[in-house]
Amino acid sequence: MRKRKTDIFTLLKADHAQVEMTLKSALKENGKAKMLFTSAVADLDRHASFEETKFYPRLRKDRRLIPLMMESYEEHELMRGIIGDLRQMDHTDERWHPKLKVLLDLIEHHAKEEESAFPEAKKLIPAETNQELVREFRKEMAG
Ligand SMILES: [Fe+2]
Ligand SMILES: [Fe+2]
Repeated sequence: MRKRKTDIFTLLKADHAQVEMTLKSALKENGKAKMLFTSAVADLDRHASFEETKFYPRLRKDRRLIPLMMESYEEHELMRGIIGDLRQMDHTDERWHPKLKVLLDLIEHHAKEEESAFPEAKKLIPAETNQELVREFRKEMAG
């Protein structure tokens, strides 16, 4: 029996949830905070680069999605800036926790907005392309 095929939207959504969950634990855990942060942002980095090179360019086909896509690029840049700061910091620094909190807020806002475009984006991506994106996403996430 063939396994039911997944689609790129389900994978992106699951990855958003995973990154948010790991960063929430990083906010709580003291001992493992930096390790959890490092693991979450490694995924986030691959996720964002997949979106920028393979996913967002497809949204251009619908002019209504362009503003959201352009905003997404900017939000990715903001995330990279905060991640860069956090990478340099020890988790005992008094700015660590508030900065991580701001990163999480930004990610939650960004993911919610991104997911709000999925129903329209779905119409732009034929089944075959969707499966191709699934393969490319998995390849990117494998590192
Ligand atoms: Fe994104
Ligand atoms: Fe995303």
